[in-house]
Amino acid sequence: MRFRSKQIHAGVSPDPTTGAILTPIFQSTTFVQESVDEYLSKGYSYSRSGNPTVRALENKLTVLEGGADTICFGTGMSAVTCTMLAFLSAGDHAIISDVAYGGTYRLCTKVLNRFGIEFSFADTSNPDDVQARVQKNTKLFLTETPANPTMKLSDIAAISEISKEAGAIHVVDNTFLTPYFQKALDLGADLSLHSTTKYFDGHNATVGGAVISKTAELDEQIRFIQNSTGSIMSPMVAWLTLQGCKTLSIRMEQQSANAMAIAKFLESHPKVKQVAYPGLESFSQHELAKKQASGFGAMMWFEVKGGLQAGKQLMDSIELWTLAENLGSVESLVTHPVTMTHAAVEEAERIRVGIIDGLVRLSVGLEDVEDLIEALDKALESV
Ligand SMILES: Cc1ncc(COP(=O)(O)O)c(C=O)c1O
Repeated sequence: MRFRSKQIHAGVSPDPTTGAILTPIFQSTTFVQESVDEYLSKGYSYSRSGNPTVRALENKLTVLEGGADTICFGTGMSAVTCTMLAFLSAGDHAIISDVAYGGTYRLCTKVLNRFGIEFSFADTSNPDDVQARVQKNTKLFLTETPANPTMKLSDIAAISEISKEAGAIHVVDNTFLTPYFQKALDLGADLSLHSTTKYFDGHNATVGGAVISKTAELDEQIRFIQNSTGSIMSPMVAWLTLQGCKTLSIRMEQQSANAMAIAKFLESHPKVKQVAYPGLESFSQHELAKKQASGFGAMMWFEVKGGLQAGKQLMDSIELWTLAENLGSVESLVTHPVTMTHAAVEEAERIRVGIIDGLVRLSVGLEDVEDLIEALDKALESV
């Protein structure tokens, strides 16, 4: 099957008892056992350790990403946390993209560091910088590409090579492009991680996470931590995400096409100082974007001439676009990462990595692109 058929049919089948075409929401804590000797004969015991609705989503994501197995979590952050806990112990070292979602940075610098795990933040757009930070105790690499919010790209194949040589695990946060546009495992990553909150859901309805593993052994290690810490996805969230998955490719294609048109509009607007969208030829890593992904996605940022004040005025006054956190949904969103998604990153660090005060992040949705552009034009006229 090709991607569009897989996104609809993989992992699910009509309910054997009723014929319901959609996988039911198995809202049940526990599962009745046939006998002590036949414990787990139907595959389930207790919903922290496994639930049929969640399992259907896991099976679908495994097929879409081309992995060995998938684990779904309550949030993208619990996916990041459990993955790190699975492969890092006190005395170990990990190399993380110096631009990543603010919550990932906070987890490393304010939580896991307290347990004796050491983190280095590398410019993962430069494999030499990554190589230079490798230590004897480096056990894990996490690259977020494209990175939230600067859109910096990391060469997945090159960093996977470095990770392999170091005997470490390479985790790629593939949230921004999804397997529809970027096959992180095929490019060499060991694990592809997602905040399913974003494009898999696609409708601003749920918060969830997933990790797709290249091998069953990796999956088992993470699943043990998930069951031990109780970081599970609920059946209701899995059910909603299953429905979102069915239109993933269509949404990604159209949102990406909308994004390209918007990026070109912004690039030519006299009040815009700079635009960063991997699909633009002016984007410094445009060639890498073309090499490792089949589409450019629907995330970008721009800076209004006049910096922070002008940007704030635009975000506060713009129509149709919604000022909110989150990304990847059908509703177009505008976000100010410095006060919102990346507030946990210290000022000096965020400026060093390019999260400038006036950065306006756009998550382009599915509205008519003409309406989105007209709204941007009107807001830009007013600043
Ligand atoms: C790239 C990326 N990874 C992980 C996360 C964390 O996901 P969640 O908010 O579902 O916990 C986010 C959230 O914005 C994100 O943008």
